[in-house]
Amino acid sequence: MKKSKWNFDEIIDRTKTSSVKWDNEFMKKYFKYDELLPLWVADMDFRAPDELLDALRERVDHGIFGYTVTPDSYYEAIINWFKRRHGWSLEKDWIKFAPGVVPAINFIIQYFSRPGDNIIIQEPVYYPFANQIKSNGRNVVNNQLVIKNNRYEMDFEDLKKKCKEPRTKLLILCSPHNPVGRVWTKKELTKLGKICNENNVLVVSDEIHCDLIFPGHKHIPYATISKEFAQKSITCVAPSKTFNIAGLKSSNVIIPNKILCDEFVAKCGTLSIRGPGIIGAVATEAVYNDCEEWLEELLKYLWQNYEFLKSYFAGYNPDIEVFSLEGTYLPWVDFRKLGIDPKELDRCIKEDGKVCLDDGGMFGESGKGFQRFNLACPKSIVENALERITNALDRSSKK
Ligand SMILES: Cc1ncc(COP(=O)(O)O)c(C=O)c1O
Repeated sequence: MKKSKWNFDEIIDRTKTSSVKWDNEFMKKYFKYDELLPLWVADMDFRAPDELLDALRERVDHGIFGYTVTPDSYYEAIINWFKRRHGWSLEKDWIKFAPGVVPAINFIIQYFSRPGDNIIIQEPVYYPFANQIKSNGRNVVNNQLVIKNNRYEMDFEDLKKKCKEPRTKLLILCSPHNPVGRVWTKKELTKLGKICNENNVLVVSDEIHCDLIFPGHKHIPYATISKEFAQKSITCVAPSKTFNIAGLKSSNVIIPNKILCDEFVAKCGTLSIRGPGIIGAVATEAVYNDCEEWLEELLKYLWQNYEFLKSYFAGYNPDIEVFSLEGTYLPWVDFRKLGIDPKELDRCIKEDGKVCLDDGGMFGESGKGFQRFNLACPKSIVENALERITNALDRSSKK
């Protein structure tokens, strides 16, 4: 492979930088184990693109960080990115700020449903969806994904039944799907959308991973499928996963329906949430305008890490199944054929192997016996983690 201008192999010490992923005290409290090699939360260990660092430096050198208006150039950067990468023509008025996709989903739950309503999610799925629904007093309704021919698919018959229930008001779609790595096809999204629209269920499409797509797959923004889909949906996007700027807390909600959009803005206004902070705005513009080449190289590197993980497990024990990764940098690995109790598997990886993965059970009952890896790190860290995990599994099988 041609040498990249960026060195994704570089190990950068993130301890003592208040990184959630690498903070030993935080992990000890959260996972109960100490000194873990972290391949868990969806956060990358790579240096940010130079173009982003230069833009931030230039703004920092100005030296004044007062109240900020959101410039047109911020919206233009977002509009151009989605047009160029995803063929989606956004209008400026549809783009609203949120200080994160999870907060955005929380606002949407509060604004567009009532306590006691049903909200559909598709487990195994990003666990804050269920947490946000429950913490707002709504009911989690699970339209569980099914495995067919080693691939996760949606269960449309079950979805129909659940959408028909009059209390069902929202469906939170994860597209691409974290953690199973699916990039939903236009056919699948169309089927889902028709069922939701027929039953007046508003689709909240979390597309935070939309730029992390591997060859052979294409992200279809849900709202591009038809005018009707656009009018009956809200899409959450952000540059945070793509360019590893989650710490800057800047994301966007796209609402083509004027009535829904006005309501969102009015309610966010009551919380005094209006626009991005200056650093988040500068970063958003810089990455969307100037860092596409970095992203292309990143995707190649992530794919190499994924192929390495796959071949490592195939060589170690073919009973460990690595699901195909269509998008995200979070492969989903099935350990169930090893016959180890899921809790013991997680303990073995964390306590004996000293590696921190996300236990599949966190993403719902159907995730038990699986583990989610985060491969957005130098290959040497992946190698180290895999050696630790397989050594721990060997030791536990000899007990
Ligand atoms: C599907 C999904 N949505 C949202 C988030 C987090 O969004 P934010 O940090 O903007 O709240 C993540 C992070 O992993 C995610 O995977």
